[in-house]
Amino acid sequence: MGNHSQLILLLLMSLLAVLASQSHSFQLSASNRWLVDSGSGKRVKLRCANWPAHMGVMLAEGLDKQPINHIILQFHNLGLNCVRLTWATFMLTRYSNQTVKQALDSLNLTDAKAGIAKNNLNVLTMTHPQSYVYVVDQLAAQNIMVLADNHISEPKWCCAPDDGNAFFGDTNFDPQEWLQGLSMAAQLLKGKPNVVAMSLRNELRGRLQNAEGLVGNMCNIRLLLLWGNILSNIVVEL
Ligand SMILES: *[C@@H]1O[C@H](CO)[C@@H](O)[C@H](O)[C@H]1NC(C)=O
Ligand SMILES: *[C@@H]1O[C@H](CO)[C@@H](O)[C@H](O)[C@H]1NC(C)=O
Repeated sequence: MGNHSQLILLLLMSLLAVLASQSHSFQLSASNRWLVDSGSGKRVKLRCANWPAHMGVMLAEGLDKQPINHIILQFHNLGLNCVRLTWATFMLTRYSNQTVKQALDSLNLTDAKAGIAKNNLNVLTMTHPQSYVYVVDQLAAQNIMVLADNHISEPKWCCAPDDGNAFFGDTNFDPQEWLQGLSMAAQLLKGKPNVVAMSLRNELRGRLQNAEGLVGNMCNIRLLLLWGNILSNIVVEL
């Protein structure tokens, strides 16, 4: 995630912060412009960290450094109640049977593998989708909500305007495969009470977009679909 992405994330967080309050229920719904707890009707304020899981190994970053529970505890310590957990389309459409260990081996990430073996051994033999769900469940166990973010197609750093993942029709952005990935993500996460939202694609960009004068990374439309009770926003960020 570049500086630009961080800025946009900050804007997104600020926007969500406007949606106010301290409730921790996972059952959200919409009341006019507000996000509310379905049970109590109280406003809910999402305070999210970004946790990348869309890079080459297709595993939440940092699991080679600390046990997952320690990492999640840090979110509480920072006053956060939500994580934007990124994922790459190909994790589901092409690599769903590959294990974390196989990915680490194919990338020669010897040190990272040793670190994961030390801190989160059980993750090594999981497939990528299993490891994603595992992280979601560990977050649920500590009352952290999840926004599942389709970040890129090809598992790697995002985002350059010419990286082949920028806009519908790019080399690695086939709309059908994107829809298939979203459908698979929906199946995977269906019934996970702490998954409160899904962003359908990070930072549409590049030469194929038709926003005249806003070529490259200047115009980003992020689709944010709130899970469960229906509320969808299109957030246009300039
Ligand atoms: C994963 O394995 C299942 C069962 O063998 C198979 O049906 C599916 O096509 C495989 N998925 C991928 C992405 O290779
Ligand atoms: C990993 O190491 C093997 C053997 O040294 C090499 O052939 C291969 O290209 C390396 N793969 C990567 C992704 O660096």
